[in-house]
Amino acid sequence: MSEHLHTSLKEKIDLERLPKHIAIIMDGNGRWAKSKGKPRIFGHQSGVTAVREAAESAAELGVSYLTLYAFSTENWTRPRMEVNALMRLLLQTIKDEVVTLNKNNIRLNAIGDLDSLPKLNKEHLLRAMDQTSHNDRMTLTLALSYSSRWEIIQAARKLAAEVEQGELKAGDVDQHCIERFLTTFGMPDPELLIRTSGETRLSNFMLWQIAYAELYFSKKFWPEFRKADLYEAIIDFQCRERRFGKTSEQITKQNNKE
Ligand code: FPP
Repeated sequence: MSEHLHTSLKEKIDLERLPKHIAIIMDGNGRWAKSKGKPRIFGHQSGVTAVREAAESAAELGVSYLTLYAFSTENWTRPRMEVNALMRLLLQTIKDEVVTLNKNNIRLNAIGDLDSLPKLNKEHLLRAMDQTSHNDRMTLTLALSYSSRWEIIQAARKLAAEVEQGELKAGDVDQHCIERFLTTFGMPDPELLIRTSGETRLSNFMLWQIAYAELYFSKKFWPEFRKADLYEAIIDFQCRERRFGKTSEQITKQNNKE
């Protein structure tokens, strides 16, 4: 894409109406590699470039939260060699990127069953989170060994324990009680969810949090996803009318008042 087209796309974005939180299901690394006659891990390695581009462009625009689905609970069932290679890549990337994250004032965060990660991965991840914890331009969250059902189950267990101990009445359980125990507690819900590779599934990702998110499906494989693709997704998002269950007329009235 020419530099000119890139800039003109960026200029179409209304910076006053950016989604505060963008979540991405990064899909298609394997198929992209296969299409080039390369091993799957080559696709994952190339996916790191796309991770960098997405984080950089989201931060540059002023997006406050970017959450990336990097490894699902179900991904553990992949061939051992691929899982090991992914864990090594993750470890290397975390080690390499701390300096850049700090330079760009980005805080690293992680959600998921972090105890199930290899010890070294967990250690370096927690260290990187700590080393970037003072940054406040954008929070980059990696979903690792994450699935929505896992998250909801662990929230339900914690809630049940409170009820069991008499700290909470079952009838008092509301939306806030549940959110308190989700791994995303304190973050706004994603307003825009992007999935690459042309698949139109949610694959157990942030099912509670995306109740009102706009869904955007890109045909690009993740390693091909560039800044301009993120801009296009945001422009598409900004063309949609978000009604939150209200009527179109109510929304127009509300916007005119603002
Ligand atoms: C999906 O492609 C991608 C993954 C399961 C892993 C995502 C990992 C990266 C982008 C690299 C490391 C990430 C970080 C944050 C450092 P797929 O393998 O499911 O592709 P396929 O559907 O074509 O097989």
